[in-house]
Amino acid sequence: MSFDKRILCIGAGYVGGPTMAVIASKCPRYSVTVVDVDQGRVDAWNSGKPPIYEPGLDEVVRQGLGRNLFFTTDIARGIRENDIIFVSVNTPTKTFGAGAGLAADLQYWELAARQILEHAESSKIVIEKSTFPVKTAQAMERILMSRNDGIHFDVLSNPEFLAEGTAIRDLMNPDRVLIGSRSTERGLKARDELVQIYANWVSRERILTSNIWSSELSKLASNFFLAQRISTINAISAVCEKTGADVTEVAKIVGMDSRIGSKFLNASIGFGGSCFKKDILNLVYLCRVEGLEEVADYVERVVRINEYQKERFVLNMLTAMFNTLAGKKICLFGFAFKADTGDTRESPAIDVTRRLLEEHAEIVVTDPQALVSAREDLADLERGVSYVADPYEAIRGCHAIAVMTEWSLYRELDYRKIHDLMVKPAFVFDGRNILDHQALFEIGFNVYPIGKRPMSHF
Ligand code: NAD
Ligand code: UGA
Repeated sequence: MSFDKRILCIGAGYVGGPTMAVIASKCPRYSVTVVDVDQGRVDAWNSGKPPIYEPGLDEVVRQGLGRNLFFTTDIARGIRENDIIFVSVNTPTKTFGAGAGLAADLQYWELAARQILEHAESSKIVIEKSTFPVKTAQAMERILMSRNDGIHFDVLSNPEFLAEGTAIRDLMNPDRVLIGSRSTERGLKARDELVQIYANWVSRERILTSNIWSSELSKLASNFFLAQRISTINAISAVCEKTGADVTEVAKIVGMDSRIGSKFLNASIGFGGSCFKKDILNLVYLCRVEGLEEVADYVERVVRINEYQKERFVLNMLTAMFNTLAGKKICLFGFAFKADTGDTRESPAIDVTRRLLEEHAEIVVTDPQALVSAREDLADLERGVSYVADPYEAIRGCHAIAVMTEWSLYRELDYRKIHDLMVKPAFVFDGRNILDHQALFEIGFNVYPIGKRPMSHF
């Protein structure tokens, strides 16, 4: 079959896989190929059982497989045969050398750029889909321009705004699609080519075009704004606990101001996920390099409040449980960084587990999707943690429940039965404020929400 366009994506992860599956489903006349170095990931995508859990994803992938959606490890062929190349590789925080702990580690995208350079036999549009530091496009252009043989590469920035757990919905119906380009004739032509792809299902007024640096910076700024809201409500939750105010009430009142808005005001154990912390630190690094120390300090505070919130949660547990957790069994309800994903990257549950072990507590982890990842995250620990899929089995003989993830199944459990299975006095620390605290108190639990007055029988 001949296709109208031939698209390649380098990187078959949480972004590359779902994004390309949606493009393939919305544009049946385009061929969409996704390449990855990880054979296991590619095999999983090809089996129709994707390597990541994401509601609605399996169906979209199965629709496209073998029709116009292809997963492969053959990078050279992918580059040769496709004209439009998305780069969706990982960009983790650097762990070594200059900028360690702040800057993005760019070795994966540079390798991808060099592979494009090596294998391209015709001109290509190269699209930054990963979240990159500002000015990455320039570096990419410099690498790609080094061939000087008439083959031309146009670099665009097209950052992704999907959230895990709602990725398919976000991709099918995005708030906006952002495309940054050079304002040269070639740059604008490349931009229009990409606009055309999205226009197959996104209305034209939601497709924003900008200069390339605004596009790169807007992605970092968006994640900073979102994370800043969470740190702000979490800071307020600490004040609520000291004053008798209720953070849910405060969030509702504040959020009803249409200038502020009600989303992203759920106080919690803290934000997790592979991107918020990494992208904010990336912005901090940019500010420090540019000599903007005041701005860097302001931005960095969002991450520091997040660390503080996790520590505060553990200290609240310690105080409530008579100032010792040694030998006590604590069951973590959820390990994923949010509901509806099996992803545990930067999950607050990781830090909470490690801190509780420092207090010599014993941990039982339960989660409907994330137990395999949880084991990997805690693989260095020799003892002190067990993993149990069934929450009723997990809770047997425990002194406390700590809710880490807002899975809806935790709202629906039989807490009378759970109370019977636990050591008394039994405690609930609701790190997501999702449970019915009054009902739990009446059953006999001592209940410690976030940003609300505790309900204790003592
Ligand atoms: P990921 O780790 O799940 O996927 C990246 C994939 O790229 C991996 O499978 C890896 O094997 C592959 N890869 C790396 N180098 C390669 C190469 N040279 N050739 C072929 N394959 C290669 O990462 P992710 O969560 O998909 O994130 C990717 C980027 O998107 C990051 O920059 C992230 O900040 C950004 N982002 C992520 C999300 C999200 O929800 N996870 C949302 C928006 C933006
Ligand atoms: C976030 C952004 O929402 C996406 O727009 C962005 O594309 C993505 O990062 C990225 O760049 O990777 P994601 O991390 O998948 O998406 O999920 P969110 O829904 O943003 O949640 C992040 C964390 O904040 C989770 O731990 C969540 O539980 C927590 N959160 C969220 C709160 O604690 N309170 C809230 O009110 C909202």
